[in-house]
Amino acid sequence: MMLVITAGILYYFRLPSTLLQRITGNAKTKRVNVPYPTGKAPETFKTPVPTPHPDWSIETTKPLPYRAFRYGPKYNVTMGLRSIRPEEWIELDNQYPKYHAEKKARIADRGRKCVDTHPDAYPAAMELLQELVDYLPGRYPTLFKRTAVGIDNIWSGESFNIVETPLAEDPMAICARLVQDDLALMIERPDGQYYLLAGAVLLAGFWRLSDKYGMTLSDIHYSGDVPHYKEKLETGMLKFFKRLRCDTFFTRNNYFIQVDDALAWSWSIGDEDGDTVSWSTAQRDKPIDNHWFRSERQSLRRLPKTGAVCFTIRTYFMPVTEMAQEDYVPGRLASAVRSWDGPVSVYKGKEKYGTVLLDYLDKEHEKQVENGLKLEEEDEVRKYPW
Ligand code: HEM
Repeated sequence: MMLVITAGILYYFRLPSTLLQRITGNAKTKRVNVPYPTGKAPETFKTPVPTPHPDWSIETTKPLPYRAFRYGPKYNVTMGLRSIRPEEWIELDNQYPKYHAEKKARIADRGRKCVDTHPDAYPAAMELLQELVDYLPGRYPTLFKRTAVGIDNIWSGESFNIVETPLAEDPMAICARLVQDDLALMIERPDGQYYLLAGAVLLAGFWRLSDKYGMTLSDIHYSGDVPHYKEKLETGMLKFFKRLRCDTFFTRNNYFIQVDDALAWSWSIGDEDGDTVSWSTAQRDKPIDNHWFRSERQSLRRLPKTGAVCFTIRTYFMPVTEMAQEDYVPGRLASAVRSWDGPVSVYKGKEKYGTVLLDYLDKEHEKQVENGLKLEEEDEVRKYPW
């Protein structure tokens, strides 16, 4: 018992881990392959300094062309996680100015409905901010500069002080202003469950931070009626969260169709401040120009000091009519949409746009075939998620 208390005090005052080990008799810090029982990771992992993103420019670097849909006939519900190198954590591109401006306006207009940090998550939010301040100037040296007190954004002229107390604003808001992603922190509580206790969810389109704030991982997904969550996802996700190590970063992709061109909030499914947010409120069979493709690149990593799991959501957004000009895309997307089963179709709102969308995609696909597209060569020129 005394040992536990001593270890707790030492952790709090951040004494060197070697001293902690000597006192607790834990001579070697383990390379942890098992759950962290307290939700706190050992402090041995230090996020590596990234190499600069090759040839990155705020003017010319295009958004990554995620086309994360697969041919039918079967739509498999899986976690779909892929590991990435730590330096690939955050992707920025020439849409930065648009995302930055939209986030700024949303923070000003909507405040804590979109950005909030629970007191229990404050140390984790500060850790995330510190991680970004350390990472971004290394990865995007033409956009960010490290300063004695924080970070400067060279393009916008913003200067962020992360050591003053109190901070000028919620740490999650500062994090949100630095990147294009939405951000969430999941904190393990003594019951072993992960809770959404900090977030900057500004461009999510279909969900509101205020609805999910404080929920467990499972309740977040149950309350959204995520299709097949119970039988296909829940157990694996809970295990994944327990076992996630600081040195292994993951991404996953998804995709949606929406029937308006609003990045931040898809108003077709209801007013953002209204009681009813549902595909049932959307207009049916809108002309194809109103169909937009939304694809998220999500990343997951565990922060080394607090053990919080950081979840980032970068949304890529474009008109379906533009994307359908790319080789193979209309045929593959049509096949994917046809492969959705009942629950997936309801979740993704297919009833509202399926007829118009499939009719359009089939015609575009036929045009590509008539123009000589070689269907049998697709696997040679692209691979999921592209
Ligand atoms: C292993 C990690 C995770 C997996 C495999 C996963 C999986 C999913 C899936 C399959 C969906 C349905 C839409 C889609 O296809 O993406 C979904 C929706 C969603 N997920 Fe996750 N998720 C994960 C982590 C998280 C975390 C950490 C959060 C915390 C904010 C979160 C919040 C949501 C929300 C808000 C939705 C929308 C629910 C709604 O429509 O109301 N997910 N997730």
